[in-house]
Amino acid sequence: MSGSGAAGQDPTGDQDPAPGSPGPGQAPVPGQRNGSGTPGLPGTSGRILLPGLVDLHVHLRDPGQTHKEDFTTGTGAALAGGFTTVLDMPNNATPVTTREVLGRKLDLAGARVVCDTGLYFGSLGDNLSEFEAVQDLVWGLKLYLNTTTGGYLLDPDFLVSVLRAWRDAGARTGHRAVAAGARTACAETGGGHPVLLHAEADVLPTVLRAAGETGQPVHVCHVCCRAELEQIIAARAAGIPVTCGVTPHHLFLSAEDADRLGPHGEVRPALRPRADVDYLWENLAAIDVVESDHAPHTPAEKDQGVFGFPGLETTLPLLLWAERQGMLRREDIVAKCHEAPARILGLGDRGESVVELDEVEFELGDRELVSRAAWTPFAGRAGYGRVRRVSVRGRVVFEDGVVLAEPGEGFVLRPAAPVAGARS
Ligand code: NCD
Ligand code: ZN
Ligand code: ZN
Repeated sequence: MSGSGAAGQDPTGDQDPAPGSPGPGQAPVPGQRNGSGTPGLPGTSGRILLPGLVDLHVHLRDPGQTHKEDFTTGTGAALAGGFTTVLDMPNNATPVTTREVLGRKLDLAGARVVCDTGLYFGSLGDNLSEFEAVQDLVWGLKLYLNTTTGGYLLDPDFLVSVLRAWRDAGARTGHRAVAAGARTACAETGGGHPVLLHAEADVLPTVLRAAGETGQPVHVCHVCCRAELEQIIAARAAGIPVTCGVTPHHLFLSAEDADRLGPHGEVRPALRPRADVDYLWENLAAIDVVESDHAPHTPAEKDQGVFGFPGLETTLPLLLWAERQGMLRREDIVAKCHEAPARILGLGDRGESVVELDEVEFELGDRELVSRAAWTPFAGRAGYGRVRRVSVRGRVVFEDGVVLAEPGEGFVLRPAAPVAGARS
């Protein structure tokens, strides 16, 4: 066992596995345990029931790079990992920065997804006139301010004008900002869907200043270190509408793992020293969501050191394992992987879904993955909770390792048309 855990916790996971035994005929109640014994104690058994999880940060690579993943394999991996709603990033081979490119992607998704899927729009600062036309089609705008996969980078000098244009396009079409939830009053600020950013510590001051200046809610993706989270905590205290997410790899892997994994350990933001990982765990309450940043590449591509890890199938077992170690609580998992992502994006109630897991500890590995990427940086680590069955809207869509939903059966989620009078 390698990698990092919470400060003061034993990250080895060296406990007796609890055998899985789903009890027949018990009505699933998401978020509650349905087993006979106390979880975490040797010899107990039962099932874990959760609402279908929401991952607001995935890269499904479709269209353009379907040798890495496509809408069907990527959303199948989501179901296998207990996620019933995913939001797909715009850094495709052809960046999704025009209404036309977005339209083609929506059509493809409609034919191929097996779980509910929403899309984001992208910008390099030169497509502000497209913003209004996409408000009814996407759940947010994604901006890249550091170099990562896709090489599409926004000049920070454009940031304020992009945020302002996105805010105004939302206001004109009646879409109200919903990001940041309970902690800030940004639901009152008007503007559009949130702006999500790849913004590491060096550019974060610019981002937070721009959010404050424009009132446009921002979601900082994949916080990875103390220097980033400290800035976000301070900004939030100052009333800036900001939320943030952390990936499982920044919680469960560290710079030591990057050394061990070589080119397969390349990801952006890079894996950080143990002291940063500890800081993230110690301040988990300040992090709104856990986002997988599912970023599939083939093993051969990883040999070349491309950035990114698949994550949809390993996120939940890692979190449930951490719960067993006392590193977080079940309600934290539900809050960060279901409630908060839905609230930040304004997805509405995503509750018509149930994930049933066997209470069992197992070794994470490459063999059973649905993702076309077919590898994981977490191989050899302990996970807890095997997804046995996933139901959506009353239908079983995944069971015993098999995706039962047909391509196109998932919904392509679009923001509801604003109600009359929303324009105030
Ligand atoms: C992501 C990808 O491959 O699309 N890679 C990564 O290392 N995280 C892009 C990103 O989220 O930065
Ligand atoms: Zn990123
Ligand atoms: Zn990403």
